Amino acid sequence: MSKLWGGRFAQSPEEWVDEFNASIGFDQQLVLEDLQGSVAHVTMLGECGILASDEVEEILGGLAFLKEKAEKNELTYSVANEDIHLNLEHLLIQQIGQVGGKLHTGRSRNDQVATDMHLYLKKRVEEICQLIRSVQKAILKQAEQHVETVAPGYTHLQRAQPISFAHHLLAYFWMLERDHERFEDSMKRIDLSPLGAGALAGTTFPIDRNRSAELLGFSAIYENSMDAVSDRDFIIEFLSNASMTVMHLSRFSEEMIIWSSQEFQFIELADAFSTGSSIMPQKKNPDMAELVRGKTGRVYGHLLSLLTVLKGLPLAYNKDMQEDKEGMFDTAHTLMGSLKIFAGMIDTMKVNTERLNKAVNEDFSNATELADYLAAKGVPFREAHEIVGKLVLVCIGQGIYLKDLPLGTLQEASNVIEDDIYTILEPFQAVKRRESAGGTGFSQVKKQLGKAKEKISAS
Ligand code: ARG
Repeated sequence: MSKLWGGRFAQSPEEWVDEFNASIGFDQQLVLEDLQGSVAHVTMLGECGILASDEVEEILGGLAFLKEKAEKNELTYSVANEDIHLNLEHLLIQQIGQVGGKLHTGRSRNDQVATDMHLYLKKRVEEICQLIRSVQKAILKQAEQHVETVAPGYTHLQRAQPISFAHHLLAYFWMLERDHERFEDSMKRIDLSPLGAGALAGTTFPIDRNRSAELLGFSAIYENSMDAVSDRDFIIEFLSNASMTVMHLSRFSEEMIIWSSQEFQFIELADAFSTGSSIMPQKKNPDMAELVRGKTGRVYGHLLSLLTVLKGLPLAYNKDMQEDKEGMFDTAHTLMGSLKIFAGMIDTMKVNTERLNKAVNEDFSNATELADYLAAKGVPFREAHEIVGKLVLVCIGQGIYLKDLPLGTLQEASNVIEDDIYTILEPFQAVKRRESAGGTGFSQVKKQLGKAKEKISAS
């Protein structure tokens, strides 16, 4: 097949070389963006008097026909036509004849492909922001029901201090809130039009870049044509924001996996988000949470891959940059899939409040309460720490907890202790009393819930 760029060539590459060169296998995902870019470009060419209005009409008709076909998945592409841009141009010429060849006036594939990717990411980032919101909503729904559910809080995966279970869940709400902010902020840099930058140097045709940008819904144009066709940092930023988000999701996944284990039994995941074992009939595995955790790897990989592709590349376009796409597509699909799964998984999980209550009553996570109690009564905190540590040791020796120690034993350890200590040692009281701003105290958690809801309704 003769190439659209074949004029200067005496020989065509062999098929296996074409295979290596081609990106149509994956960049066909940009078909609608590419057509959208062409519509804006040719409209602008007409308005600027670069193409005659009947030519513009014909080309627009051809593009509309291709769009219809694309939406029905009826376009046939060829590897010999390399990428989505040349394939569509080829199909257009096939459809409307030689006038189709005028579409590429004052444009290069270099500004064309960059435009497509800006359009693609604009859409995906909007969808991702909405999906983050749906996960946040599911967290809020659960948190609202568990403000006064007391649970063990951990450091080093060792029980540390009792907390409100809602407080734990809401920690993830705020991580996702920052992720949302990062994606929203990145829009400023995605929402730019490279179209009209040409191959690298602009064009001699009297085009109007602002007009094509406006037609495409971009807020502004790249100020420098070389930057416009060389920039891929908007994609790196996307991959980086995605990496941060999947990192948060993978931490949350890990907790879901631990919490749903036989050992913890803090939550039960819905059947719809679990799977069974092919051999062990009793198993209910948290596969979805594990997959979200596992898929984090590929997203990090794509970030590192593109950073490496671009490192040391001279200006302007280099074919290396064709390697920017698969990672971008895969990251968008992976992240959207993970967020969707997550929203459903959290929404439908059951919290085992009895089990949480038991856990928090049968441990030493109230030890800080006793130390704080002593310190509040004037015992230097270091000394109080030592006294309580020794009492914990006594309890461990006897197989009991602090609340089981008789008042006499407690008073032997420190004479400032009175019988109000037993209320202080209750985990529910321990949580309730943590009223410092942003703390786990119930009224603080309620305040936090209110702020979280405001964030959701503001967007
Ligand atoms: N398929 C190419 C890419 O994805 C399009 C741009 C090609 N430009 C060129 N001058 N060869 O990067």
